[in-house]
Amino acid sequence: MLRIVVLVSGGGTNLQAIIDKVADGSVENTQIVGVISNNPGVKSIERAEKAGIPACVISPKSYGDREQFHEALLSQIEAYAPDLIVLAGFLVKIPAEMIRRYEGRIINIHPSLIPSFCGVGYYGLKVHEKALERGVKLTGATVHFVTEGMDEGPIIAQKAVEVLEGDTPEILQRRVMEQAEWVILPQAICDIACGRIEVRDGKVCRKA
Ligand code: GRF
Repeated sequence: MLRIVVLVSGGGTNLQAIIDKVADGSVENTQIVGVISNNPGVKSIERAEKAGIPACVISPKSYGDREQFHEALLSQIEAYAPDLIVLAGFLVKIPAEMIRRYEGRIINIHPSLIPSFCGVGYYGLKVHEKALERGVKLTGATVHFVTEGMDEGPIIAQKAVEVLEGDTPEILQRRVMEQAEWVILPQAICDIACGRIEVRDGKVCRKA
């Protein structure tokens, strides 16, 4: 069983997609052992509790400085003893120490086709605003391993989504979630849980 911890900041629709697909068996060999939110009072916590998954809030506001917050986050993660950490709309920069400690065991979902519309300043609705500003006709989502370079780790999965006339950032965000994020994030977890992928020369490959 792959033990996963899901880190969230908000609504948790990606978390819900994982919960649902673990429950209906389409994500095999996986147990969600904990959910951590950096924001109190978010729907993600409700979703976890409803599914009977241990959930907690670790907010930077409750700690004197960033270092103490990082320590608390890391020790909570360690308490869950995960095999894989899933960043599902987690808006906090992951401390370098955590990336080193969990090398190759942290994945993130980003709402664009990396390397487009990613890096510093590209998060949440802003990604879709920029895609609309640029007038791209296709966008999508990417699941990748997390490395120290922002949005630069090996790409596990991508799915393209059409941009339509009249889209607003909100409409486009919803379409990208429905057609791409909620599909490829659970699928990537399943691929890892079933040992179907490996990283070779910095690239994700299907095992023979
Ligand atoms: C998603 O679009 C995710 O890719 C982005 O933030 C959003 C979070 O959505 N980084 P949710 O909390 O999973 O509903």
